[in-house]
Amino acid sequence: MNDEKIKAIPYAKEELHQMKIGWIGLGNMGIPMAGNLLSAGYDVTVWNRTPDKAEPLLARGAGIADKPYHLLEQCDVVFTMVSDDTAVKAIYMEADGLLSGNARDRILVDMSTVSPETSRFLAERCRQAGHRFLDAPVSGSVGPAREGKLIIMAGGEQESFDRVRPLFDKLGKLALHLGPNGSGSSAKLAINLLLGITVQGVAETVLFAREMGIPTEQMLTIISESAVGTPLIKGKAASILADEFPAAFALKHMAKDLRLARQAGASSPLAESVYASYQSALREGLGDLDLMAILRYLNGAKVEA
Ligand SMILES: NC(=O)c1ccc[n+]([C@@H]2O[C@H](COP(=O)([O-])OP(=O)(O)OC[C@H]3O[C@@H](n4cnc5c(N)ncnc54)[C@H](OP(=O)(O)O)[C@@H]3O)[C@@H](O)[C@H]2O)c1
Repeated sequence: MNDEKIKAIPYAKEELHQMKIGWIGLGNMGIPMAGNLLSAGYDVTVWNRTPDKAEPLLARGAGIADKPYHLLEQCDVVFTMVSDDTAVKAIYMEADGLLSGNARDRILVDMSTVSPETSRFLAERCRQAGHRFLDAPVSGSVGPAREGKLIIMAGGEQESFDRVRPLFDKLGKLALHLGPNGSGSSAKLAINLLLGITVQGVAETVLFAREMGIPTEQMLTIISESAVGTPLIKGKAASILADEFPAAFALKHMAKDLRLARQAGASSPLAESVYASYQSALREGLGDLDLMAILRYLNGAKVEA
């Protein structure tokens, strides 16, 4: 790897806004995250499989690339924020993919939730192509993404982390360097195991209370004000009461994360239980709804039982 060239990447404070940023993946998370970098004054160029989704960012001054590898050639740092392992591997490895670009010494940052194995695979491919790679998935949904208050869990070289840190500071309230490549993805699977368990726990509590005649609104207030109350529960209350679950964090992504956690060795009783229920909810066609729709699945499962 050519360290001289890497040192040439501008990262002194006064030079930060000269950094060219590439952003791939404009879904629920990618749009507000890339938007925050634009708001902070960075030069951002985007690519998305469905190009129309870039329009709100183009209206705010972003550029658009025709192919992923154009971003590698034009930008100092390229972020990916896409659905899953298959998507991110395609973006890096396909014929028009990032790593087919004719450049070296870029920093590539994958913020998608994928397996630690995929993160290590991509890191090695990047290293072979003369680039540096960080796995840097996030905790926090669309609200924190919009507010720049995500928690960023990063794996990779400390030096790459330090260089990208000012950008992480625009995206999140906390950015942690956890160790070598794969560490960020591992931490993300662990925190999302807790998320899956918590959301299912709230759903089961609400359904149990309902059966005993306790109104859902009051039960949600009790949970929120109790020792186990979290911003998550407050955030999902309106959705639960309306029985409408537009996706902030799609259930299919939660099911994916629990599958990845299981593959990585999570086999506790609760891990097994939530894995099974989110997979069943997926099979019932609830994947594009918010993960809180696990309540709808559990309610149906109860009626049928
Ligand atoms: N939403 C949340 O609350 C949340 C929170 C933390 C972490 N995450 C994680 O962040 C990642 C993105 O989540 P999201 O909610 O933004 O997802 P999303 O709304 O479903 O968007 C997915 C993005 O991935 C792209 N994509 C999917 N398959 C692709 C492929 N084969 N090739 C190229 N692009 C592909 C989509 O492109 P198109 O626009 O063309 O479909 C879209 O840009 C996921 O790994 C998720 O687990 C989500």
